[in-house]
Amino acid sequence: MKKEVAARGVDIISLGIGDPDSPTFPHIVRALAEAAAKPANHRYPDYEGLPSYRAAAAAFVRKRFGVTVDPATEVVSLIGSKEGIANMAVAFVDPGDVVLVPDPGYPVYGIGTLFNGGTPYLMPLKQENAFLPDLKAIPADVARRAKLMWLGYPNNPTAALASPGFFADVVEFARKHEIIVAHDNAYSEIYYDEPPPSFLAAPGAEEIGIEFHSLSKTYNMTGWRIGFAIGNKALIGGLGKVKTNVDSGIFQAVQEAGIAALGGDQAPVAGMRALYRERRDLLLAALARLGLEAQPVRGTFYVWVRVPKGFTSSSLTAKLLQEIGVVVTPGSGFGAAGEGYIRFSLTVATARLQEAVERLGTLRL
Ligand SMILES: Cc1ncc(COP(=O)(O)O)c(C=O)c1O
Repeated sequence: MKKEVAARGVDIISLGIGDPDSPTFPHIVRALAEAAAKPANHRYPDYEGLPSYRAAAAAFVRKRFGVTVDPATEVVSLIGSKEGIANMAVAFVDPGDVVLVPDPGYPVYGIGTLFNGGTPYLMPLKQENAFLPDLKAIPADVARRAKLMWLGYPNNPTAALASPGFFADVVEFARKHEIIVAHDNAYSEIYYDEPPPSFLAAPGAEEIGIEFHSLSKTYNMTGWRIGFAIGNKALIGGLGKVKTNVDSGIFQAVQEAGIAALGGDQAPVAGMRALYRERRDLLLAALARLGLEAQPVRGTFYVWVRVPKGFTSSSLTAKLLQEIGVVVTPGSGFGAAGEGYIRFSLTVATARLQEAVERLGTLRL
């Protein structure tokens, strides 16, 4: 449909994909340029990451979340958190295993499960529960058979946060049923009020938990492919065992740039938060004028919007594209429970977002 609309000569504004439009911060690019010139970095990297990169990751999570991990055994580098999320299933999901997967959610949690012969059990994230899964609604036999639970807050696509209290309930549930908890914290630094917590800060989480981190959204580095996982030794070890046999780690020069990012000045990250806040407020005001119900945007750079009566996720998405040339993502693309919502991304230049907002003003719903 997008191609069809573009062929009519419409200037399409895409608010569909969550890929930061701002460049990687200059001090990180400089670190890569210097590191790329060093012959020592031209050889195979260690799959688990340079000790200095893992130490930088450990120092970052200690300072930011108050979580202490041993860089030697409780940190592994990742070629982007997506790689780790997919390989987590290779490491721990066997045919017939049940995996608890949030719906709506980042698709790789469920697809990784399916690729490895597991069965996803979908946990609906409902508006009335502030988009947290209702642990009490998980049937006892499912909880008994479940091997792993996926969670991700700040949440893509709902923009919700989880509180330390919710994470404490998850730890209790997971210990009771002997379930591994894999928490995706890819958006930890994209927030608007209180900084979101780490799952691993919950008491007892280190016994059952692993957490995925990414430099992609924090430092505008989606194309660089760098992240890391922290957590329980056996879980990090299992993921690492897969990785030794599947990939050969991240180009060391990129790891050196990652050290510059994690260990360097974090003021540019605060600058990005201010930029997303400005864009969020611009879009929320336009949606309110249209009478559309946007959910509270507490983290991430997404806005999750309820579709009005008479529309579905896809019919409203189609209307926005065909009538005003604005691309959004239908909520149903994130799972059946995403039906009835659409997702806007704030990762376009503010002037383009302003243009999209003006076009929204001409829409009749
Ligand atoms: C919820 C979530 N997790 C993980 C990722 C993967 O990010 P990366 O592989 O760039 O670290 C994304 C990317 O869009 C995401 O939205």
